[in-house]
Amino acid sequence: MKIEISREIERFGPIKIHGVQKVFELDGGLKNAKNDEENNPIIRRIAYDVQHEIQEQMAIVVPVRNEKIKLIEGVLSGIPHHCQVIIVSNSPREPMDRFKLEKDAIEHIGRFMNKKFLIVHQKDVALTRAVEASGYKHLLNKKGEVKNGKAEGMILSTMLAYLCGKKYIGFIDSDNYFPGAVQEYVQEYCAAFHLSNSPYTMARISWHSKPKIVESNLFFAKRGRASEHTNRILNRLISYYTGYGTEIIKTGNAGEHALTMEMAMKLDYSSGYSIEPYHYVNVLEKYGGIIAPPPDDVMKAGVEFYQIESRNPHLHEVKGDQHVKDMSLAAMEVIYQSPICPPLLKANILEDVHNRSLLPVDEDISRSLSYYPALHSADFKKFKEELQNESYAELFTKDLTDYTPEKKDKKVLRETKAAKIKELPNDGQLEVK
Ligand code: GDP
Ligand code: CO
Repeated sequence: MKIEISREIERFGPIKIHGVQKVFELDGGLKNAKNDEENNPIIRRIAYDVQHEIQEQMAIVVPVRNEKIKLIEGVLSGIPHHCQVIIVSNSPREPMDRFKLEKDAIEHIGRFMNKKFLIVHQKDVALTRAVEASGYKHLLNKKGEVKNGKAEGMILSTMLAYLCGKKYIGFIDSDNYFPGAVQEYVQEYCAAFHLSNSPYTMARISWHSKPKIVESNLFFAKRGRASEHTNRILNRLISYYTGYGTEIIKTGNAGEHALTMEMAMKLDYSSGYSIEPYHYVNVLEKYGGIIAPPPDDVMKAGVEFYQIESRNPHLHEVKGDQHVKDMSLAAMEVIYQSPICPPLLKANILEDVHNRSLLPVDEDISRSLSYYPALHSADFKKFKEELQNESYAELFTKDLTDYTPEKKDKKVLRETKAAKIKELPNDGQLEVK
């Protein structure tokens, strides 16, 4: 892959957010290939074999809920062979066992691919028991099952990827129509990890375009409906503290993202579709130095966000207006409820959700989201022990002999007044529209 260096970088304490980087060539050739681009200061070449080395250390998670099996198959065919694929499904098992159908179909194509998929149901009894044993009970509902939701499935699969001993974890939605796009996203994750110098790195895909039919012609829209608003509010949050307007964030809702396992273990998560914007918010909360100084290791190593613009168009299942509205409202709520969200921005958010009829005008933003503390406090030895008789246990190669759960981080209080927010002199001059 040949990719431009980031033109702009927004720095926030130890956090670096790279502006969107464009891919110039999808295939950059082999490491030792003769190449005149090596001396080009603005283009980086990530050789094919370098990407391959990273893929061998990567788990790709595919969350599923009620997707067409043909779609899932296409997605799986696009994932590079050496990634460990983890499929976590929350499809209903009654009255018809949809999960069984998915598992059958996936295992069948796995024979042709000569590949062992790790496929689990989100509410699997053994897994639930393992979660309970690990002490990470936040994921469980009152009935003792793993809660519904995409984020909850993602957190569960992060725990499994950790046991598989993977260094990187990437997410790919299961409703993507183009296997070629899936393959490209994984290559882009690898590019980001290769470019980064930090063990705390996240790659997010900003897709180039989303094809739509408009008046019987194909129209390639630049952004999704929800992401425009999420990005604007996240950028305002950053501008508020830096004192400079910015448009750096273009991937607030990126379902397609990947992170180093070290970062995946350190982040707090939030429920459902708010998990993606919360990555930015939580990193700012934890490491932005607004609430407390960042811990030494993070201060030294830094946290890096890469945003890479993919070449393939992004085409996924259309899930309707209400779905987009719910997703957008969840994104707004997660920013609104953050202790680092200044009152002025809260007012902006409220105005925005009312203008877009995400909420009736007389209603305030409720507290509907759940928050999940960083996974490094879970007892992974116990988690693994509970799963030792499962067919996929042979994939758990992580050596846990020296593993001890870390102490829980101090809880981030979701009260604005609890965190001492500096009122900057430009308060009030933040652009309102
Ligand atoms: P959008 O693409 O962001 O509009 O949202 P989708 O509805 O397409 O969801 C993104 C991905 O998450 C898809 O692959 C869904 O099948 C999957 N998904 C949605 N809800 C759940 C859930 O409760 N559990 C799991 N495991 N996956 C889910
Ligand atoms: Co989708």
